[in-house]
Amino acid sequence: MRIEFLGHASFLLEDAQTKILIDPFLTGNPLASKQAGEVEADFILVSHGHHDHVGDAVEIAKRTGAVICTTVEVARELFEPEGLEVLAGNIGGKLPTTFGSIKLVSAQHGSGVTGGLACGFVVEMDGRKVYHAGDTGLFAEMQFLKDEGLDVALLPIGDYYTMGPADAVKAVEMIRPQVVIPMHFNTFPAIKQDPLKFKKAVEAQDLSRVVVLEPGKSFEL
Ligand code: NI
Ligand code: MN
Repeated sequence: MRIEFLGHASFLLEDAQTKILIDPFLTGNPLASKQAGEVEADFILVSHGHHDHVGDAVEIAKRTGAVICTTVEVARELFEPEGLEVLAGNIGGKLPTTFGSIKLVSAQHGSGVTGGLACGFVVEMDGRKVYHAGDTGLFAEMQFLKDEGLDVALLPIGDYYTMGPADAVKAVEMIRPQVVIPMHFNTFPAIKQDPLKFKKAVEAQDLSRVVVLEPGKSFEL
């Protein structure tokens, strides 16, 4: 499978059969590598209701017929009124899919809608497991993700709205993925970070390999 970074917290996970688009904030994203009108998707995963994660999800789902996957309240507020096909679950649950699976996992962050929950995702596809943390601070239950045997973890390092680089290193200690790809940094002045410093800190401890992707670049696994 292939993981393409589209900028900010947006990624496209793809194998020969399926395209999974995550947090498609493209319009208005200064780092976006693609325009909303040029991405294809079978599933669109939305971690929470903040604009830098919902992004162009509605428009892309309407054009492509993609199924939106998110938590119940976020779906009810933002996507069901648009008449979109939705798979709305809750933390700890796996959503049924035509390929492997999508598990909703905890994230410590506001949902962006009244009473709802933000989430992260563990996507199993092509015999590989990828964790997209969504927006989150560091929290102790991240340690349980170690048992998932993750191939890749997509972790925010921007600080201010999410964990910063030092806490993200602690997250890697708990999660122990094979590969970490940092996200949610440098899009706005408030979240300016040097991802190479984060890479050095993780790799100095021999925890995981860090792959820093420029928007538009891909990682194959
Ligand atoms: Ni957010
Ligand atoms: Mn965000």
